[in-house]
Amino acid sequence: MKSLAVLSLKGGVGKTTLAVHFAYFIHETLQREVALLDGDPISSSLRWHKRGEGFPFSVVPLGEDYGKHDWLVVDTEAHPSHQDIERIAAQVDVVILPVTNIESLETAIEIQPLLGKVSCLAVVNMAPPFPQRDGQEMRMALLSQGLTVASTLVRRSKAYETAKLEGTSTYHCSNRLGKAVWFEFDAVAREVVAHV
Ligand SMILES: Nc1ncnc2c1ncn2[C@@H]1O[C@H](COP(=O)(O)OP(=O)(O)OP(=O)(O)O)[C@@H](O)[C@H]1O
Ligand SMILES: [Mg+2]
Repeated sequence: MKSLAVLSLKGGVGKTTLAVHFAYFIHETLQREVALLDGDPISSSLRWHKRGEGFPFSVVPLGEDYGKHDWLVVDTEAHPSHQDIERIAAQVDVVILPVTNIESLETAIEIQPLLGKVSCLAVVNMAPPFPQRDGQEMRMALLSQGLTVASTLVRRSKAYETAKLEGTSTYHCSNRLGKAVWFEFDAVAREVVAHV
């Protein structure tokens, strides 16, 4: 089984949003069996799943058996301790670090020593739309610190909020830009999968 965890020391950077969409990508685009493990004490992924018709893959609360799948995607809690980070990193193939702002950038750099030998990929999330260059600048700053960073940025879009409210992915949500947003995410997801 291949596994990835989305984690950050900073809250609200898009861990749950990215984890849900990675799981959709693996299920619908790669057509592989995937379980989404909800490691958040307030069950953000499970709540998302219950708001709509339900995700077309398993969403498993922390502590429950997730069974055998091709892939495991782990959504993690908002403010993990250093021990939590070390424990999670030791159990997965890849750690994805969403970065949206200066604090998440700094903490992504700070937690590197806790990650051990696990492969790690930073993803710039909520990048403002073109022609603003904040996302690219964030990416360059991460690269200059020696991190591996996905070359595709995840743009800021209201479609992610619509998807969350409707209990589905951007592709299936009612936002008129949802499909375009999904295909942009597809490029990020391909980079992540290639990293595993
Ligand atoms: N690319 C994006 N564009 C627009 N909004 C986004 C994007 N990514 C996430 N969001 C929004 O930002 C908010 C925080 O996202 P999310 O809940 O995924 O973060 P989180 O890191 O899981 O938070 P927590 O630390 O509380 O678990 C949500 O309202 C979500 O819809
Ligand atoms: Mg979350």
